[in-house]
Amino acid sequence: MVTTDPGTAPVNIAHRGASAYAPEHTLAAYTLALEMGADYVEQDLQLTSDGVLVCMHDTTLDRTTNVEEVFPDRATEVEQRGALRQVWRVSDFTLAEIKTLDAGSWFGPEFAGERVPTFQEAIDLVKGRAGMYPETKSPEEYEALGLTMEAELVRVFAANGLDTPAGQSDTPIYVQSFSPASLKQMCALTGDTYKLVQLINGSQASTLLTDDGLRDVADYVDGIGPAIALIADDPSRAAAARALGLDIHPYTVRASQLPDGFADAGAYMRHLFDDLGATGVFTDNPDLFPR
Ligand code: G3P
Ligand code: CA
Repeated sequence: MVTTDPGTAPVNIAHRGASAYAPEHTLAAYTLALEMGADYVEQDLQLTSDGVLVCMHDTTLDRTTNVEEVFPDRATEVEQRGALRQVWRVSDFTLAEIKTLDAGSWFGPEFAGERVPTFQEAIDLVKGRAGMYPETKSPEEYEALGLTMEAELVRVFAANGLDTPAGQSDTPIYVQSFSPASLKQMCALTGDTYKLVQLINGSQASTLLTDDGLRDVADYVDGIGPAIALIADDPSRAAAARALGLDIHPYTVRASQLPDGFADAGAYMRHLFDDLGATGVFTDNPDLFPR
């Protein structure tokens, strides 16, 4: 585990790219994030049926692509909140099939034709220009299909020379997950090669954000990524994490959803750093990060 230098300036993490301004997890959103000065560009990761890492938040393709129109007969029916719903799972499609989809039009007509990027394409764009901040999404679902996300992530990093301090000198890396098992698997595969961050949502707070929980977490990661409300509601949790030397990268600041009392997103982010001890932040608006 790499310990954090407390003197380091907070880091600006472009959440799904500059996703306030361009369709999330497209090369357009990542390019804009770089132009806006993001320190890190986030990639949520999924696996195709042929085992390729692609950048997408959901395990399903329907919210952010036109899959329903292109592959109307390839849905799976699932029950959600007592109702039947059709979904198009990433893991049911090959990369070649996914590459036929439009991942931009849902956001705006000017983004028509944007494609779902592979993680390799994200590396090709970001490497040497900013850090990368991939998240292993739903790794247990892929493991059940015989696809090990962590092993593939490690393979791709190594193939790009990002498994060495020299490789990471101009492309620093954090790997994040809500899954403790996934992060422990990264530790087992790579030791301290990559900085790791335990994401924490509301349902995990009672186990991971206690004093004992944080001590356990500090054994396998370098930082935590809590939902903002979890540290805003109880700042002692952030103080306990900092006392353990953990980074704190809360999610997510959106200029369109500011809490009362803050003039703008910059003032809100400044509050997270100065008053709550955050050492970075996920934001859809990397251009509004206070320097
Ligand atoms: O990874 C930090 C934040 O992105 C977690 O939430 O759902 O946007 O991946 P989500
Ligand atoms: Ca994420």
